[in-house]
Amino acid sequence: MNNEPIGIFDSGIGGLTVMAEVMRFLPSENIVYFGDTAHVPYGSKSKEAVTRFSVEIANFLLSKNVKMIVVACNTASAFALETLRRKFALPVIGVIEPGARAAVESTKSKRIGVVGTEGTVQSRSYPAAIAAKNASVKVFSRACPLFVPLVEEGWLTHDVTHRVAREYIAPLAARNIDTLVLGCTHYPLLKTVLRAAAGPAITLIDSAAATAGEVSRTLHKNGRAAPAGRRGKYQFYVSDAPEKFQAAGRRFLGRAIAGVKKITMEKC
Ligand code: DGL
Repeated sequence: MNNEPIGIFDSGIGGLTVMAEVMRFLPSENIVYFGDTAHVPYGSKSKEAVTRFSVEIANFLLSKNVKMIVVACNTASAFALETLRRKFALPVIGVIEPGARAAVESTKSKRIGVVGTEGTVQSRSYPAAIAAKNASVKVFSRACPLFVPLVEEGWLTHDVTHRVAREYIAPLAARNIDTLVLGCTHYPLLKTVLRAAAGPAITLIDSAAATAGEVSRTLHKNGRAAPAGRRGKYQFYVSDAPEKFQAAGRRFLGRAIAGVKKITMEKC
C-alpha cells in the first residue's frame, strides 16, 4: 500500500539536512537513512571510489525494500547518479538537478554562483544542469573545502567561519551573481554566515528543500506516495561510529536520533 520506505543516503550526517526537508514535505513517509561514516568525506575522493560506495549503499537500501533512492550527497549526485540510474530500476533522485532548477527560476541577472566540495565543483555537474535549463546563464563555481569541517566542529557562526566565508564568497560576489547555490549537504547550516558574506542582494538556494519538492512530485506522479494522516517511521544505518552519528545528527536533522545501527559494507 505504498508504505515502503524512501531510501536516503549520504557520505555521513550531512544528508540529514535533506531528510529533514523530506520529513517536513512528506510526514507520512517511512524513511531508511544510510550515512557512510566509514568513508566520509566523499568531497575529496575520486569518482571511481564514490561510485563504488554509492552502488554498494543502493544495494543495501534495496534490501530494505525502498521504493525510491534519494542521493542526498552533492558529491555522490555529481559522480554516481547516472550509474545508479542505469543499474537500478527504481526512481533515483539526486540533489543537483533540483538545486539547479531552483537557481535558474530565481536568477534575474542570469549570473549564478555555486559553492560545493572539490569533487562537486570539479565535476561541473551544476553548470551542466543549469546550462541544460537555460544556456544563457553564466555560472561561477568555487570549492569551499573548509566549510564541512567547520560545520562538523559546530562552528556555525564562529568568527573564523565568518572570515572563511568572506574569503570564499567575495570573488563570486565580485562577479555580480544574484543567486548562490549551496551545493553541499552541510551548507544549509551555514546560512547565517553565508547570508552575511553574500549580502542582501544575493538569493541563497538550498538544494535540500528543492530536492524534497522533487521527491514529493515524483511519488505523487507515480502514485507511490504513502497515505496521508499517518506518521512516518525512521531507521538510521551507518558504516562506522553510530554513537557519534547519533550525537552529532541532532544538529543536522533538527530532532533527536535514536537506535542508529552499524552495518559492514562487504565490498568497499
Ligand atoms: N555530503 C557531501 C556533499 O554534499 C559533503 C561531505 C563530504 O565531503 O562527504 O558533497
